[in-house]
Amino acid sequence: MKNILVVGGAGYIGSHVVKMLDQKGYCPIVFDNLSKGHLAAVQSYPFEQGDIRDRERLNEIFCKYKIEAVMHFAAFIEVAESIQSPSKYYHNNVENVLHLLDCMVENHIPYFVFSSTAATFGEPVQKKIDETHPQHPCNPYGNTKLIVEKMLKDFEKAYGLKSTVLRYFNAAGADDSGEIGESHTPETHLIPIVLQAAAKKRPNVKIFGTDYPTKDGSCIRDFIHVNDLSQAHILALEKMEQENKSDQFNLGSGNGFSVLEIIEKTKQITGVDFKVETAPRRKGDPAILIADSTKAKNVLGWSPRYSLTRIIETAWNWEKNRKY
Ligand code: UFG
Repeated sequence: MKNILVVGGAGYIGSHVVKMLDQKGYCPIVFDNLSKGHLAAVQSYPFEQGDIRDRERLNEIFCKYKIEAVMHFAAFIEVAESIQSPSKYYHNNVENVLHLLDCMVENHIPYFVFSSTAATFGEPVQKKIDETHPQHPCNPYGNTKLIVEKMLKDFEKAYGLKSTVLRYFNAAGADDSGEIGESHTPETHLIPIVLQAAAKKRPNVKIFGTDYPTKDGSCIRDFIHVNDLSQAHILALEKMEQENKSDQFNLGSGNGFSVLEIIEKTKQITGVDFKVETAPRRKGDPAILIADSTKAKNVLGWSPRYSLTRIIETAWNWEKNRKY
């Protein structure tokens, strides 16, 4: 059984990937400092509390387990916060990843799967964003992720470390079991916020910007289910090991939905009406982000299975019965 170190495995996407790794016969070892993650999300998997800033602790883990590959989910992810507090983002999302990569090289760990983002592209210059699209981030969060992408290229050349960069568009939804799901404090993501309004846990939903150059004036995003993302991680890991080659993939459904459409669809699915207000644009938000994931489909054989309806249904199931 292959041991995979999942850094940030107690967080939203990490915990779903951990569950799928286990189902596919891997042994995921969760490494998390629990600053954002939840112990309840770790369930019965091997858990090591720690921080990737702590190189001694990392070396200890690499000695304790024979690790075949590392997956990294332990990043700060909020665009708006990254504009207000860039230092926090550069320290965690760049400096700490550098510590992790150094320790991997020292311990001869050959493979790394890195969670990157659509935010590395900035304002799109074409309708759908594929891997050849220019990368000009328009916020510090995107900058931090792009810096690591560049570091990985240099690490491969100098030290032979192979990596797969997975650029997520808008991760959403929850595991069908309802055991794990999305839980951020504060919550800033659209779908959980809209569902919290439907659950009467918040008074309203604010639409950040209704004057974008889109069909209804609100931003358009490409929502992809967290289990579809998890599937891509496993396919990417297997491909990287088989071919011993680095690569990058954009992961989205290829369909764009506006903020207003998400609100309407949520009202339909939940059968609950709630208050919606308009608000000014949020800084750092591109108008439209839609993935072209043809490469992931062709090279990895990846095929996303969850529709937008199913994304909202699973997230609603989680929101109503959340465990953390
Ligand atoms: N939005 C609202 N009201 C809200 C919350 C969000 O109108 O209460 C809007 C945002 O302005 C944006 C859209 O809904 O237009 C989606 O916002 P999210 O915060 O859910 O997601 P983002 O697109 O900002 O962020 C996601 C990931 C980031 C990643 C980014 C890529 O969460 O990690 O996509 O740009 F960087």
